[in-house]
Amino acid sequence: MRFEIFTLLPDVFSPYLEVSILKRASERGLIQVNVHNIRDYAHDKHRVTDDTPYGGGGGMVMKPEPVFEAVESELGRAPLQTTGQPVPIILLTPQGRVFTQRIAEELSQHERIALICGRYEGVDERIREHLITDEISIGDYVLTGGELPALILIDAISRLISGVLGDPTGAQDDSHSMGLLEYPHYTKPAEFRGWKVPEVLQSGNHAKIDRWRREQSLLRTFNKRPDMLEKTNLHQNDLKFLKNIGYE
Ligand code: ADE
Repeated sequence: MRFEIFTLLPDVFSPYLEVSILKRASERGLIQVNVHNIRDYAHDKHRVTDDTPYGGGGGMVMKPEPVFEAVESELGRAPLQTTGQPVPIILLTPQGRVFTQRIAEELSQHERIALICGRYEGVDERIREHLITDEISIGDYVLTGGELPALILIDAISRLISGVLGDPTGAQDDSHSMGLLEYPHYTKPAEFRGWKVPEVLQSGNHAKIDRWRREQSLLRTFNKRPDMLEKTNLHQNDLKFLKNIGYE
């Protein structure tokens, strides 16, 4: 997977990408993150990338020329993937569709995606109308720019790419990937300050352990995120269990 990042703050990416799992993924060629400084494509003396809004009002707006030029000179016009599909060109903005595990899964199917990080009050509308193919928000709150959201997308998408996580089943049981929150985890010691690891996890009975984990997932989701149960495929057994704990 190749990520093409367009930003005014290129330095914020490497500290996060050069540690741990994402570092290993890059070293092994599973992901490649190319960070492009939009300012390099501003040609006036002061390399200006923002200007005041037409119509007045506060704040500054990202100018269209450097953003178009940055994207077009790195990707070409109307860039395609080897599948013939267009490269998604995604603007990170609080106005976008809200990022979910489903969207991470959808994006992980691409071989290349471009992420444009907005700054200031916003971007010139012509970027939205004529350059990007999608807009994504990471939640209903406003940050100072799209850099953290871009890192969040890179992280969530990369861990879905085959080989990135050490354990090949690593992403399957995640909270949200099955439409349920994940069950509780325990590791050694079996007893810590008098708090014991549930007996069933030490029993070696895998059918029992699977059932316990499924029920814990259901219980947690019911208690913490009942909205998720509406959208999840539940088996007969799940429904029976949920009914017992008060789910209608
Ligand atoms: N830029 C500023 N706030 C944002 C958000 N919530 N999601 C994506 N990009 C943003």
